[in-house]
Amino acid sequence: MADPIHDLDSAVEPLNIVHEAAFGYLSSLADRKVRDMATFDRLADLQQALPIDGVGGHKAVAELVDLGAATGTLSSGPRFFHFVIGGSTPAAMAADWLTSLLDQNAFSRASSDFASAVEDVALQWLSELVGLPDSWGAALVASATFANYTGLACATHWWGEQHGVDVTARGLAAVGRPLPLFSGGYLHPSARKALQMLGHGRDAVQLCAADAIGRVDLSALDTALAGLGEPAVIIGNAGEVNAGDFDPIDDLADIAERRGAWLHLDASFGIFAALSPRSAHLVRGMERADSIAADAHKWLNVPYESGFALVAEPQRLGRAFGYPGAPYLPTPNSPGAGYALFGPESSRRARALPIWATLRAYGREGYQALVERHLDLAQRMAEQVDAAPDLERLAEVPLCIICLRYRPAEVSDEDRLNDLNRRLGEELLTDGRVYAGTTLYGGRVALRPAITNWRTGERDVDFFVEVVRELGARVAGQPGKRS
Ligand SMILES: Cc1ncc(COP(=O)(O)O)c(C=O)c1O
Repeated sequence: MADPIHDLDSAVEPLNIVHEAAFGYLSSLADRKVRDMATFDRLADLQQALPIDGVGGHKAVAELVDLGAATGTLSSGPRFFHFVIGGSTPAAMAADWLTSLLDQNAFSRASSDFASAVEDVALQWLSELVGLPDSWGAALVASATFANYTGLACATHWWGEQHGVDVTARGLAAVGRPLPLFSGGYLHPSARKALQMLGHGRDAVQLCAADAIGRVDLSALDTALAGLGEPAVIIGNAGEVNAGDFDPIDDLADIAERRGAWLHLDASFGIFAALSPRSAHLVRGMERADSIAADAHKWLNVPYESGFALVAEPQRLGRAFGYPGAPYLPTPNSPGAGYALFGPESSRRARALPIWATLRAYGREGYQALVERHLDLAQRMAEQVDAAPDLERLAEVPLCIICLRYRPAEVSDEDRLNDLNRRLGEELLTDGRVYAGTTLYGGRVALRPAITNWRTGERDVDFFVEVVRELGARVAGQPGKRS
């Protein structure tokens, strides 16, 4: 039987295919549809029986490049305003390719001194970039969800300790009571998912919201904690997804301090507000938290999967995540230790390389300029929305998200407006020239474009408003459910 995988001479050919396709693909990001449904019938090409005789690396990769470039979502392009998604800076993307080339296992120093050394520096730089003290610990994880998981796992361990129980060893049941959890109404489903994975339950959080938007009710929170008489965890939200608003972190930290609670912040993209004097007030007090979850694959513009967890007391990471132990594995204190012993994963790719490369390439000033460009673009979009007779802005724009809806003069009924905007949201995704999703903001269906991609410029923002108005007028002219 032939052994095609052992054909060492052809190892570089598939790489060349990707390299050759890269330039054309990247230059097409500026003008192509973000999502082109006309290409989707080609996805049927993937439905093949498991090959018995493979086609070879060259052909297999060529097929994938061809199909991926045609049918993939252009979420790393400048006109993708959905969710909160960054792109990949050139340095980050190249370093990500290198990550696969070197294929290091960033499990520990024992598996790769290089990956561990890069991770040390990348984490130190990230902490410094957002203004946290040197004493903080950190770990790179796959996403903000895993960073929430990591911070909340440390909180769980801390809470067990308050009850004299090592929950890492003995489990939550040994505490014999539920962990009291509190948040304002901005709580992201990702934190709930983390709580569900940790065994606390996704519905375990008591929400203290002052209004239908979800702004935190500080006095309700303080009263709830005062009446509790036991340690609790507060989840603060530093950058919510509908309008980019922030919980008042300093106030949350005051309450946590007064009531002896753990303060965890979900700062998935909001953490980068720290980079500009124009937005740094939004994260004032962040250094008073006990743990913070953030993403590099959002506003830092490095490729997926790249989140990071920051913890005020670094030793808590090792306690929550130290390996159960086997004679052949390092422990958190041994010389061969590494980040797998300080976070939820074990074997992991060297995701520090793109972070290191992009920070080395563009530096603090480069990232400050990026954040400020996006702040400007968000204000530009807000001004255009305000000036358009058929658009309505629903919220202030403190950061990089604009919350708006289509509102033609002749429609004032809220149910009809909701129906209209829901259909507009669907139309936007089908049309694909620009891309944004809908949300419910204080009970009103709204669009919530987010600007976090390094490629996005004025032309893209203007085009977004143009397309929304064009499609809005078209949808308004069609009969809706409530027309
Ligand atoms: C505030 C917040 N937290 C957490 C997440 C989850 O991030 P990830 O998809 O990287 O897990 C998001 C995603 O948009 C977010 O906006």
